Amino acid sequence: ELTELRDDYGRRLNYVRISVTDRCNYRCAYCMPPEGVKCLSHEDILRYEDIKFLCRVFVELGVGKFRFTGGEPLVRKGLVPFLKELHSELPGIKTALTTNASLLGEYSAQLAEAGIHSLNISLDTLDPEKFARITRIGSIEGVFEGIRAARAAGIGNIKLNAVLIRDFNDREIADMLAFSRREGLLLRLIEFMPLQDSVWDKNSFISGEEILRILPGGDAWKRSTAGGSDDGPAQYYFNEKTGDTIGIITAVSNHFCKTCNRLRISAEGNLRTCLFNPHETALKELIRSRETAALREAILRSVHEKPRCWNDINTGNLQMSGIGG
Ligand code: GTP
Ligand code: 5AD
Ligand code: SF4
Repeated sequence: ELTELRDDYGRRLNYVRISVTDRCNYRCAYCMPPEGVKCLSHEDILRYEDIKFLCRVFVELGVGKFRFTGGEPLVRKGLVPFLKELHSELPGIKTALTTNASLLGEYSAQLAEAGIHSLNISLDTLDPEKFARITRIGSIEGVFEGIRAARAAGIGNIKLNAVLIRDFNDREIADMLAFSRREGLLLRLIEFMPLQDSVWDKNSFISGEEILRILPGGDAWKRSTAGGSDDGPAQYYFNEKTGDTIGIITAVSNHFCKTCNRLRISAEGNLRTCLFNPHETALKELIRSRETAALREAILRSVHEKPRCWNDINTGNLQMSGIGG
């Protein structure tokens, strides 16, 4: 018997984002403080065997898609073999990574072989100097190499995520569109969310409405259905003149909460029902002791805490790196 996961507002939850590590080889200004974040120890985080067990329980609850995030998911050793096992044990699931691409040069071929369905690559600028500035320690060459490797490996569905920040990258949209077209990527522009209070300010914020106004290509952009139904927060636009498609993620101004189908698991095994809901339910002990029934119960109970919309709750001071976006 298949129990569906449904929250109190009738939303079906069939997509789980799992952060596999809080560590990252970058220090993006909007994501973490310069010194990085307190590092969780190996004992604190879920083991791959634990995550597999958890995924199986979720699949039995009707979940079909898992996105692995971080930190940077590929800095955790063994991720690719884990994904391969996950696919062979749970046939039919879709898996995806949100990654900064720096390690794709190394892992793309194996990722493709493991059966990964898609990649979302975070890249906010094409300018090497600006890239070094925003990531604090990153080098853009590795990202370009990673993108090339992912394409060469035949990973079909690759999206580029750019957080738009006024006076940082808002004049680069045309370049990023050209780059995406050349590389066969789907570009998505993201509203800057006020997560790291120290960096965000209202002048740097560019709303989705404004993004649409400043898009090169004028009013030839028309709403499109690209991406499909499990594609969450992005709204897509097609340019009838150039043939380009672009996504806009209005993470702040227009909450897609009404159709949210997501749950999140932190690296420590806490279930979070909304990106913005600071309350978490610890699942680690139930997972580690393999108590299937109790774990199902805990998940089914937590789902009632999913807010109707994040405007309804007190969001606290969030730090992206621990949540995985
Ligand atoms: P797919 O739809 O599976 O391609 O993934 P995604 O676009 O949701 O995930 P990705 O990790 O690429 O995140 C893109 C942007 O959307 C990031 O800035 C995330 O923080 C943001 N985002 C993802 N999920 C949510 C959400 O539930 N609420 C809000 N407000 N933002 C989200
Ligand atoms: N606002 C919007 N997007 C953010 N991300 C990280 N911090 C923020 C923020 N403050 C994005 C990253 C990555 C995804 C997981 O979340 O760029 O693409
Ligand atoms: Fe790392 Fe992504 Fe955060 Fe940058 S935004 S520090 S790449 S987790």
